Amino acid sequence: MAGVVESVGKDVTLFQKGDQVYALGTGTGNSINFGCYAEYKCMPEDAVVTHKPANLSFQEAAAVPVGARTALHYLRKTTLKPGQKVLVYGASGSVGSYAVQLARHFGAQVSGVCSAANAELVKSLGAAHVVDYTKAGFTKELESYDVIFIAIDRFSFPASFKYLKPDGVYLNVTAPVKSLPMRLASLSGKQKICAGEMIPRKKEDLVYLKELLEAGKIKPIIDRTYPLEQIVEAHRYVDLGHKKGNVAITI
Ligand SMILES: NC(=O)c1ccc[n+]([C@@H]2O[C@H](COP(=O)([O-])OP(=O)(O)OC[C@H]3O[C@@H](n4cnc5c(N)ncnc54)[C@H](OP(=O)(O)O)[C@@H]3O)[C@@H](O)[C@H]2O)c1
Repeated sequence: MAGVVESVGKDVTLFQKGDQVYALGTGTGNSINFGCYAEYKCMPEDAVVTHKPANLSFQEAAAVPVGARTALHYLRKTTLKPGQKVLVYGASGSVGSYAVQLARHFGAQVSGVCSAANAELVKSLGAAHVVDYTKAGFTKELESYDVIFIAIDRFSFPASFKYLKPDGVYLNVTAPVKSLPMRLASLSGKQKICAGEMIPRKKEDLVYLKELLEAGKIKPIIDRTYPLEQIVEAHRYVDLGHKKGNVAITI
């Protein structure tokens, strides 16, 4: 979410009335309780909330804390070196569009898998190669990668894992837990497999992303914006599974 601070408690030092902020909805512990479809939200100042990147609209800023943090968390499981090859599968969605940009920022050579309709978008985010998953035999265009980043769970583990280098890292943001084939592969090889991670809620991540956003290193892609009154239509659209980047709700 993103918005303007309406009032602060007497002990608050980090924020004042009128500050423009962006934040991750507060849950208890690791519970998912985003609670951001609201006019007002009360948060402790040590929550995952910080000042909004100055160059972003509220809609754009609201589209950062979940998708970009997710991509950042997984990419930090790697030690990407300049020139290493990263494949992002589902490169045109929310997590995928951030993964392409962050991997590029870390110096990687990025290949993105998306449909032809999104090829230009994914290239504009920094992908050197784009592979169209709707074409029969698209896997023939794949190479061997240092990192495979699965943002959309439509490329099975056995089918995708064979494109990972022997010392590569496999990342899957979609799997709730490691599947049996993933666990067996983690036991047997040198490759690292990260899936089903609980992402720590850290304010520092939003501060770090703000710096990248303000420096123009990454940007949120907003496909559509809906007013809160059309929240049902917004969810229906997202549930089709074909949004480009993110959908924002305005209040
Ligand atoms: N969004 C978040 O903040 C977040 C955070 C943590 C975890 N997750 C998880 O990460 C996964 C991705 O979420 P998301 O919100 O990033 O997805 P999303 O934005 O809804 O993904 C939409 C994109 O997926 C592409 N796509 C659809 N079918 C595809 C296929 N068969 N192969 C390749 N690309 C395909 C679509 O491109 P085309 O229209 O070209 O098909 C579209 O651009 C989900 O499992 C979600 O639960 C998301």
